[in-house]
Amino acid sequence: MNSNRPIGVFDSGIGGLTVVHALRRLLPGESLVYLGDTARVPYGTKSHATIERYTLQAGAILQRYDPKLLVIACNTASAHGLAALQAVAPCPVLGVIEPGAAMAAQVEGPVGILGTIATVQSGAYEGAIRRRRPEAEIHSLACPLLVSLAEEGWLDDPITTEICERYLKALPESVRTIVLGCTHYPALRPSLDRARPGTTWIDSGDVTAEAVDALLKNSAGYRIESSKGPLRVLLTDASSRLQEVGSRFLGESLESVELVEL
Ligand code: DGL
Repeated sequence: MNSNRPIGVFDSGIGGLTVVHALRRLLPGESLVYLGDTARVPYGTKSHATIERYTLQAGAILQRYDPKLLVIACNTASAHGLAALQAVAPCPVLGVIEPGAAMAAQVEGPVGILGTIATVQSGAYEGAIRRRRPEAEIHSLACPLLVSLAEEGWLDDPITTEICERYLKALPESVRTIVLGCTHYPALRPSLDRARPGTTWIDSGDVTAEAVDALLKNSAGYRIESSKGPLRVLLTDASSRLQEVGSRFLGESLESVELVEL
């Protein structure tokens, strides 16, 4: 098996570039092909059957690049499409929920989960945490407005802080650890911190990058080239603000994108 093959990363849009950011920080030598379904985002308000179908379509497109492994960066697609994609993909497929849940399961006290409506309704985080810690006290909360605020770039803004406060009020005070179970939420850390100081946030992107590292180490192998790995970005639609918003999530300038059809 050629370990220089790329890692395929899939998201419903460009929020998954926060996961690419985490991957490039931890594994800078890896070659990445990112597919964002910008034409059909958001997935967080859609049904299980639709999200599963979209995930399978995205997986099929990424197979054209002969990836050594696929990462579903989108929490919603991980919750609803991971099992179906794992059943048909010729390479390993990782989602963001298992790594985030594994980290959350190590916490002693109650845990909060923030996500899209579809992620929360799936119960995927609860299931994955309870498999590891059956007695866990878990409080899940859908925060649909946060995706739009992140896309608008209101990351450290009084309005965002107020909306975060309003959502987070629904969680008991005893919840001191909260999983950011959506691609966009890590970008809102300044406002989230202000809304609920002293909270430990689990960034599903960071822990997923660690899970990818472990998988490369144990089986798929690292890219051997010493140069910084290339990043290819494929999108199903390119709007005018894409470069600006995408660069914000990626933490570096998003140079060029290619359009693909699903
Ligand atoms: N990428 C999605 C997630 O992580 C957020 C955006 C959407 O609803 O598609 O759940």
